[in-house]
Amino acid sequence: MLNNCFDNTVYSEFIGQDKTRAAHYAALLRELETLVKDSHFNTESPIKILDMGCGDGRFAKFLKARFGDKVAITGFDPAHKLIEIAKQSASDINFIEASAQSFQSNETYDIVFSTLVLPYAENTQSLNDMFAAAHGHIAKGGHFISVTFNPGFIPTGQQDAPNRSFERLANHRIRINFLSHDDPNKIEVRADARHWGKKPYEMAARNAGFRSINWKLLDVTANGSDTAETHGIVTSRCPYIVLDMQKPREISKGLLGAHTARTARDGSDIELG
Ligand SMILES: C[S@@+](CC[C@H](N)C(=O)[O-])C[C@H]1O[C@@H](n2cnc3c(N)ncnc32)[C@H](O)[C@@H]1O
Repeated sequence: MLNNCFDNTVYSEFIGQDKTRAAHYAALLRELETLVKDSHFNTESPIKILDMGCGDGRFAKFLKARFGDKVAITGFDPAHKLIEIAKQSASDINFIEASAQSFQSNETYDIVFSTLVLPYAENTQSLNDMFAAAHGHIAKGGHFISVTFNPGFIPTGQQDAPNRSFERLANHRIRINFLSHDDPNKIEVRADARHWGKKPYEMAARNAGFRSINWKLLDVTANGSDTAETHGIVTSRCPYIVLDMQKPREISKGLLGAHTARTARDGSDIELG
C-alpha cells in the first residue's frame, strides 16, 4: 500500500532545500559518473537510466541537465502529486505514475537507481518486488544503485543528519522526522518506514538475480556533505548506505554460486537486523 505522507507539495518543497538529500544525490552522482565512464556502455547511443520511486523528479532532472544527450531517463513513482510536479518542464524525461509492482516497459535500462525507496517496502514480498522490478528492467551487465537506511544505524533520538531525526519503533520500524529548515523543533513531514536488516536486503537481491552486492557507508555530515570514503566512521552513527548491485552479463553456474562482494569499508561489520 502506498505511504501517502510524500504525496504532497510540502514534501517536494522540503526536499528542494534539503542538505541530507543533496548528500544522497551527491553519492549517487559519484556512482553514476563512475559507471558512465565505464567502457562497457556503448557511448554511441544514450545510456538508459531508470529512477525507481523518483518522487518529484528532482534528481532525474539534475542528471539530464548534467549529461544531456548522453542519457535517456525514465522515472516512475506511485505518488500522483509528485509525478504531476515531475512532469512540469520535463519534456525530455519520461515520467510515469506507477509503482515497482505495476511499472511496465519494453525497454531495458543500463542503470536503475532509487533513493530512499526500499525502506517503504512494507513487507518481505514488497521488498522482493522492488528488487525484482529493478532486476527485470536492467540490461545484462547493468547496475542497480540504491541509497537506503544503513541496517546497522542506531538512532540517538537527536538530529543524526541535517534536518532529520529518527526514532526506533517496534517491529524493525523507524520513524523519520523531516525537520523544518527554519526551526529544527518543528516537524514538516513524518514518515514511518521499515528498517530492513542486511540479510533481507541481500536475500531479496539474490532472489531477484543480482550476484555482486557492494555496501558503501554514506556519512552525511552536519554540512550535508557526502564523505562515504571516510575511514573509521562509526557504523551505528551513519543513517544511510549505498547499495550497488550488478546483473550478471551471463548467467553461469559459477556466478550463481558466487558470494557477495565485500570490501574493507563496505559496512560488512553491520549487524543483521
Ligand atoms: C522518501 S521518498 C523519496 C523520493 C525520491 N526518490 C527522492 O529522492 O526525493 C520515497 C518515495 O518512494 C515512493 N514509493 C513508495 N512505495 C513505492 C513502490 N512500491 N514503488 C515505487 N516507489 C515507491 C514514494 O511514493 C516516494 O515518492
